[in-house]
Amino acid sequence: MTSKKLQSIIDGDKEYLFQNYGDRLPVCFVRGEGSYLYDQDGAQYIDFFSGIAVSSLGYGNNAFSKALHRQVETILHSSNWYYNKEQVEAARLLSELSFPGKTLFVNSGTEASEAAIKLARRYGQSISPDCYGIISFEGSFHGRTFGAMSATAQEKIHKGFGPIVPGFTYLPYNDIKSFKKEIGSRRNVCAVITELVQGEGGIKIIDGSFIREVATICAKHKILLIIDEVQTGIGRTGEVFAYRHFDITPDIITMAKGLGGGVPVGAMHARSDLSKYLEKGTHGTTFGGNHLASAAAVAVLKELKKPACMKKVKHSGAYIMDRMRALQKKTDIIQDVRGMGLHIGIELKKPGMDIVKRALDEKLIINCTAEKVIRIMPPLTIGMPVIKQGLSILEKILLQEVD
Ligand SMILES: Cc1ncc(COP(=O)(O)O)c(C=O)c1O
Repeated sequence: MTSKKLQSIIDGDKEYLFQNYGDRLPVCFVRGEGSYLYDQDGAQYIDFFSGIAVSSLGYGNNAFSKALHRQVETILHSSNWYYNKEQVEAARLLSELSFPGKTLFVNSGTEASEAAIKLARRYGQSISPDCYGIISFEGSFHGRTFGAMSATAQEKIHKGFGPIVPGFTYLPYNDIKSFKKEIGSRRNVCAVITELVQGEGGIKIIDGSFIREVATICAKHKILLIIDEVQTGIGRTGEVFAYRHFDITPDIITMAKGLGGGVPVGAMHARSDLSKYLEKGTHGTTFGGNHLASAAAVAVLKELKKPACMKKVKHSGAYIMDRMRALQKKTDIIQDVRGMGLHIGIELKKPGMDIVKRALDEKLIINCTAEKVIRIMPPLTIGMPVIKQGLSILEKILLQEVD
């Protein structure tokens, strides 16, 4: 039963907001603590979703809250007309936690993709006027602005917007033959952009041998390799950045989501020598990396630096996957269990939205992506007792399902 409080929020949403998102689930979260969320009527939920992998440190993390409070009380914004010490510190930490390079701060994952695309295009133009081709892979998701949407190899994302940005080629994911054929037949490719685990595409993990060959070919042809770490980065897969699992070094990584722990901030981090292609006046954003956003990123990155943090993600992720694989043996409705760290997909043999709704009724927050894949992405800091509590609910629901 929808409470009066919730109903009035729903009514307001319908009256005053664009209805561009899929049907919202009937709950309004008003508070969080650890890995629990609380709704408008005070009910407690276990969070296995982190607001699409954003609330990386959960809710009310002491060091994070203190850093934000301090920043709110000093300065939120000045603009990129001026130097910004929090931005410098966030960039320094990113170089330390990925590869030595330079960072450009933006406000979302989409904008991080956009920045990488613009950098790649200017790099290509320095080689030849024809060198503007960018390759991406089927099932990918890179964002919703025109450039990022055009990099996204999904027709349903392009539909109804008229011509998308020219110059993008979509190839099958994990198919080295078609990649080699494409590269062999042209000389106008400036970049390849890919996720290492397709998140929106259904937690599809890239083949190690595929991405290593792609990286080698890119290096040989001086094609930039852009790894979209918007969903996989910031510790989600058990390494601070997922490329670390694959023994490759990208030229550019993009990130957002977990970087600000809930404060909107994104970034493009690139090899230092590439920064010259986005020279003065070529790109920018008013808010990008403002004092608050950068202070949030610094606080998150400092937590990630602690060795125990990634160890915990690996351990928690392995535990969840073990339990889900054990469950797979007891029920017919699970097709596959896959993931890395706390970026986990349970592919069902049927659409999963009903399961998400039933879990919500049982006060467990999960998500479904690519229609059939239940996605589990709790805060990186989630404790074992809460994991066990959440899994027991999920197991009960999945065992009640029949094929
Ligand atoms: C891999 C990837 N890239 C880019 C984006 C776009 O990020 P944002 O929604 O912050 O614009 C997303 C969002 O889900 C994503 O998963």
